[in-house]
Amino acid sequence: MANEWSTFGADLHLELRGTRLRAGLMDALREAVRSGRLEAGTRLPSSRSLAADLGMARNTVADAYAELVAEGWLTARQGSGTRVARRAAPRTPALSTPSPPSPPSPPPAGTGRARPGAPVHNLQSGTPDLASFPRAEWLKAYRRALTDAPHEAFGYGDPRGRPELRTALAEYLARARGVHARPERIVICAGFVHGLTLIGEVLRARGVRDVAVESYGLWLHDGLLRRAGLGTPALSFDERGTRTDELSGLDGCGAVLMTAAHQYPLGGALPPDRRAAVVDWARASGGFVLEDDYDGEFRYDRQPVGALQGLDPERVVYFGTASKSLAPGLRLAWMVLPQGLAEEVAAAKGAADWSSSAPDQLAFAEFLRSGAYDRHVRAMRLRYRRRRDQLVAAVAEHSPETRVSGIAAGLHAVLALPPGTEQATLRAAAWRGLAVQGVNRFRRPAVPPTLDGLVVGYATPPDSGWQGALQALCGVLPQGDLTTG
Ligand SMILES: Cc1ncc(COP(=O)(O)O)c(C=O)c1O
Repeated sequence: MANEWSTFGADLHLELRGTRLRAGLMDALREAVRSGRLEAGTRLPSSRSLAADLGMARNTVADAYAELVAEGWLTARQGSGTRVARRAAPRTPALSTPSPPSPPSPPPAGTGRARPGAPVHNLQSGTPDLASFPRAEWLKAYRRALTDAPHEAFGYGDPRGRPELRTALAEYLARARGVHARPERIVICAGFVHGLTLIGEVLRARGVRDVAVESYGLWLHDGLLRRAGLGTPALSFDERGTRTDELSGLDGCGAVLMTAAHQYPLGGALPPDRRAAVVDWARASGGFVLEDDYDGEFRYDRQPVGALQGLDPERVVYFGTASKSLAPGLRLAWMVLPQGLAEEVAAAKGAADWSSSAPDQLAFAEFLRSGAYDRHVRAMRLRYRRRRDQLVAAVAEHSPETRVSGIAAGLHAVLALPPGTEQATLRAAAWRGLAVQGVNRFRRPAVPPTLDGLVVGYATPPDSGWQGALQALCGVLPQGDLTTG
């Protein structure tokens, strides 16, 4: 069946295929946008007039418009009607067949930042819910901290950071994460990336050649180590997690970077025998374990998995960050270091940019001391847990064969995909205005590909966009096309 209709003087040709009216209309509209026949910003006819043109029920057209808005093809605003979304129009005409779609320019990997032309839905992992930043409580803490601060707090101070914050962190980390922490062994840094840069520099200066990494992780992190002049051999990964037994075969390896409590991004906790083994390796070899405890506050289904550092504070360097529990924009993180390393890292920090403003550190110290941090983390844990449950339920309903893993903790989950389908799924997601990452984005270059999947960050979307994001996600999963029917 073919139909012609006109909108504001422009003749357009819509080919409606098949018998499912809404799905056929949606395919035809997507195709018209994809091919460039409907340009960005073009106003579509009202659902009433299009329904009359096509001989359909008005609701069918209205539903199709609403779904295309949710997918990011169209926009709808009171007073300006339904229009082709700015980002939906490709630069070059695509083929006239509706699938497979070509991707728009790739989303900004790993950042979660909005920018012109950014996708409509953001399920990239890495960013917490920024709308929930506890502004009022933070302001209170800031005011109290500034009121009470001694004059010397506004000077250069100790490169390790404000003693008030190091003292408050020592208490909190011992209580909440089982870390053996004394204030003089803590160095405040501007994010985990800053801490890792400092430790990389110190290890290299000590003559360390390599720092082992996990098979999957954030590319930024082994990049930082390599920039410090270190090699980054990757440990294999099996069904129980990272193969710590391989460390003893790595000559010249002076440290290993691990996300032991919640592997990033695959999600498991390192089993107890491997936790013990990695610490044994460090003791026997004189090496260090660099423990990236990036989201230890967010565990849902089990007792918290304590920090590895508790097993041997002289061999494990513990890293924590406020980037997940509060906001990455604060650039506040901390390291708990073995004795010798603490002095060397403080010296390295003192010889460069000290970062982390003293007033911010004082405010965070007050935030911790007053109990506001515990309250905020508890509230966010409930919120993220609810999101996680909704994600699991939506996937179970729309794509029952898709396995969801890594859900016991953190702000993201991993959705397994049939072998060889990750790239096509990512392209389909991009066309639905959905920014999401594949597990292979996190695979170290030397590691052979064995998994296909999506890493779905569920913390970031605002409440108003959450259902649309879930819908877009389910629409690209196997047998999960919500636009049909
Ligand atoms: C594995 C991992 N570690 C640490 C961090 C925190 O980094 P930062 O403290 O530099 O913001 C992140 C943030 O995305 C992460 O994914």
